[in-house]
Amino acid sequence: MGKKIFSGVQPTGNLHLGNYLGAIKNFVELNNVPTNECIFCVVDLHAITVKQDPKELKKNIRETVATFVASGIDPKKSIIFNQSGVAAHSEVAWILSCVARMGWLNRMTQFKEKAGKDKEKASIGLYSYPVLMAADILLYDATHVPVGDDQKQHLELCRDIAQKFNNDFGVEDFLKVPEPLIQKEFSRIMSLKDGSKKMSKSEISDLSRINLTDNEDQIINKIKKAKTDPLPMPKNIKDLEGRLEAQNLLGIFASLNNSTLESSTEKFAGKNFSEFKHELSELIVNKIIPISEEIKKLLNDYSHLDSILLDGVEKASKIASKKIKNIKEIVGF
Ligand code: TYM
Repeated sequence: MGKKIFSGVQPTGNLHLGNYLGAIKNFVELNNVPTNECIFCVVDLHAITVKQDPKELKKNIRETVATFVASGIDPKKSIIFNQSGVAAHSEVAWILSCVARMGWLNRMTQFKEKAGKDKEKASIGLYSYPVLMAADILLYDATHVPVGDDQKQHLELCRDIAQKFNNDFGVEDFLKVPEPLIQKEFSRIMSLKDGSKKMSKSEISDLSRINLTDNEDQIINKIKKAKTDPLPMPKNIKDLEGRLEAQNLLGIFASLNNSTLESSTEKFAGKNFSEFKHELSELIVNKIIPISEEIKKLLNDYSHLDSILLDGVEKASKIASKKIKNIKEIVGF
């Protein structure tokens, strides 16, 4: 039986190689399986949990759609839409926030990281963000959710919320408990400047990430400047232990090359980093530049991008309105 796939990406600009390898590359593969039903959401409601410039947000929503399409997601085969276009997401998020427990949300590590030291100043939305994410997934009866490793805890929470809703209201199997789809290798791409930190949109230094809109010179320069260690390239997987930067760069190579970490490590065993970096930048340029050029091309035609979203909103609304009707019935509205 085909899978029902749902996933989301925040339109906060600077979509990077981590987003691509951890998530979007998988979206494309799942979209290419004819029996799968895929829904990919530009999660603009999630984006405003931290301050956004409205003009920038609008631009970034379109840029995220362009990135989906440029990466190979076919809007004819998948539903691509923006979250704020379907009101049911906000409504169901409220209902589920009355099911989820404070204790569960208090354990979310991403909130702790994003809120930083001054939690009192974080928005309420940032705190309850994973409940909205659960609403996204559960509204569409998604069976599988492809994400990077950093979303694992949010998906576990989504499963808990679904189970509690079903138990509380005595509706076994009504909300479908989804399975995360997290790759074994390469599900956490790290910063080019620090192998212990996640590659991230919000990191101040642009040298820490490869953006999907970077040009060839930027890519070559960033890889040249990427942190390594003074030793020659590791001889084997065991030799990678404790060498976070080498592990990350080899992981990027392997993932883009559709090979394993093991075979990529063997390919460069004992060589010096500069030789490896040369091949790595060539590979990134070959894989990312066509995407980056396609994004730029697509961004010249806003009306086309907007029509993809409009069409997606219409299709998603049809599915969501049926589910929310049943949810309201069950709750007693
Ligand atoms: P977001 O927008 O932060 O990231 C989008 C996707 O990219 C993955 N990712 C990474 N993967 C590997 N290495 C990295 N360094 C890296 N950085 C980001 C993320 O894991 C994610 O899959 N809450 C979500 C969006 C969301 C969602 C949903 C996802 C909202 N509703 C429903 C799935 C289902 C987020 O903020 O992703």
